[in-house]
Amino acid sequence: MNQTPLIGELTVPGDKSISHRSVMLGALAKGTTKVENFLQGADCLSTISCFQAMGISVENHVDKNQVLIHGKGLHGLRAPQSVLDCGNSGTTTRLLSGILAAQPFTCELTGDASIQKRPMGRIITPLSAMGADISSLRKNGCAPLKIQGRPLSGIHYQSPVASAQVKSSVLLAGLYANGPTTVTEPYRSRNHTELMLGGFGAKVQWDDTSASLTPPEELYAQELTVPGDISSAAYFITAAALTPGSELLIKNIGINPTRDGILKVYQAMGADITLLNERTASMEPVADLLVRGSLLHGTTIGGALIPTLIDELPIIAVAACFAEGETVIADAAELKVKESNRIAVMTKGLSSMGADITETPDGMIIRGGRPFTSAVIDSRLDHRIAMSFTIAGLLGGEMPEIKGGDCVRISYPDFYKDLKRITSVS
Ligand code: S3P
Repeated sequence: MNQTPLIGELTVPGDKSISHRSVMLGALAKGTTKVENFLQGADCLSTISCFQAMGISVENHVDKNQVLIHGKGLHGLRAPQSVLDCGNSGTTTRLLSGILAAQPFTCELTGDASIQKRPMGRIITPLSAMGADISSLRKNGCAPLKIQGRPLSGIHYQSPVASAQVKSSVLLAGLYANGPTTVTEPYRSRNHTELMLGGFGAKVQWDDTSASLTPPEELYAQELTVPGDISSAAYFITAAALTPGSELLIKNIGINPTRDGILKVYQAMGADITLLNERTASMEPVADLLVRGSLLHGTTIGGALIPTLIDELPIIAVAACFAEGETVIADAAELKVKESNRIAVMTKGLSSMGADITETPDGMIIRGGRPFTSAVIDSRLDHRIAMSFTIAGLLGGEMPEIKGGDCVRISYPDFYKDLKRITSVS
């Protein structure tokens, strides 16, 4: 077990989901949208390059994480000259498909080997119900996708999965529909699209599990500041919460209640996390997090909590290995269709490091307190896997060899640099 406390202050990069949406809505708005604290991760850069390929001028001032998007209005996109490359980004692929479904041109979009294995039937079904002409060019229902823009009808879609990517894809297509569009989910997923659409001038309403959009005449350019990504902060929250004597202040983190499940779960496990300076920035709730080290105990995680911490489940599985007693993660079968099969990859990797962990059809059961040893971990080029095993190594006192660890550039390019700084300050 790591005995060196994490002490100091940290900021993490801007939120990935919000950065993607800022480019998309900025491109569809009239005028110049200015985005501060934009995430310079590979996924968000894929979104920028897709819109540039459709004639949108985007200035990325990388040195100050500021992006200017010169939007051309709802009907300003032009046909790309070649296949749109979404890289590793499911958010780009699915949300962009919703927008493309209504454009007056035909195009194709694809991405890397991982994207070409991820299910797209979940967006093809509702977009087709709206009248879209969208199909997979493979027999497996994955990218590459071919989309021929068509006039769309508003629908009320009952989604079988709680997925913000599905909900957002349908709502973005709904910008162009002939009437209101509603998506109802089994549980509420992250609501950044709804909040930002409202900020750009669209009429959006929601309740616990439904979100509705009335097609606007126009979207209007905004000035936005992206909060720090709670999904990136999660690695440092975990390291500090489980290391006695730690006192880490992580500043400017988005604490939207559709994303803050990790805080609730860790508090239920006995963690000492205090929210300071709570405020709202660009429609999103934000706070500084003060994390002190303590002893954690096991818990049960499932149901409506799952969408609020879906990307944090790999690092929560790591935390459970260092907590006392049993942790049960259920209702999380969605983890199998992320950048990798995160249930299988976490179970295999943590077992090889010495953990007592069992894979279940929709999650994992972890009994904490086993000593860790070193191991070789294949990241499967999944950024959250690489970062989770790095923290597992830190907490276990034996750093694994992580293959393909530079995939952290997808969501947190400076992860290793920040980790080094915060662990050597101590
Ligand atoms: C995202 C939604 C989540 C999440 C992904 C980003 C988004 O996916 O896992 O990393 O930006 O909408 P689902 O909502 O499809 O589960």
